[in-house]
Amino acid sequence: MAEVTHEVRLRPVEDQDVEVFFDHQADPIANEMAAVPARDKDQFTAHWAKIRGDDTKIHWTIVADGAVAGNVVSWEQDGQQLLGYWVGRELWGRGIATEAVTQFLTQMRTRPLTAHVVAHNAGSIRVLEKCGFHRDHAQEATAPASDDGIQEYVYVLDALQT
Ligand SMILES: CC(C)(COP(=O)(O)OP(=O)(O)OC[C@H]1O[C@@H](n2cnc3c(N)ncnc32)[C@H](O)[C@@H]1OP(=O)(O)O)[C@@H](O)C(=O)NCCC(=O)NCCS
Repeated sequence: MAEVTHEVRLRPVEDQDVEVFFDHQADPIANEMAAVPARDKDQFTAHWAKIRGDDTKIHWTIVADGAVAGNVVSWEQDGQQLLGYWVGRELWGRGIATEAVTQFLTQMRTRPLTAHVVAHNAGSIRVLEKCGFHRDHAQEATAPASDDGIQEYVYVLDALQT
């Protein structure tokens, strides 16, 4: 049985956190799960420098029991406010993503909030559903087909959670 994580909190991203995020996203199992290819060190460092240098992007480090566990990010794209998150594989299954997204939603109040998730990413789908997101079939029906043939679901959080 997975260890219980006692304390999850969000704090601003610090330089050294990006090193940990790099290791998390360089994991082939996580890449397959999210259908996101790993970036090399230079690409990843540039990617995070861009995120952190952009006032319109929201980004938090997830800290679990005092250690960097992952990140939560939100950004505007094509008129939608999007959500993304990543937790290091050694910490999966302890409720960290669910708690981090729950905390994020109490402070980031823009709605609707949208998340795109590949159909085989059962963990992420469960996180979204536990946090109140619902699948938006209408939006999926109008989305262009992906080049790689991987089916993507669209999840939306409509109303402010009180
Ligand atoms: C998806 C991800 C964020 C989940 O993080 P996590 O901290 O393990 O999630 P939680 O522990 O909060 O789990 C939430 C629920 O999902 C379930 N779950 C987690 N991983 C799962 C998996 N691989 N398959 C099925 N269910 C899974 C948990 O059992 C839990 O459900 P429960 O409360 O009913 O038992 C993590 O696996 C990850 O970072 N993956 C790689 C990046 C990614 O996919 N990001 C999201 C892109 S949309």
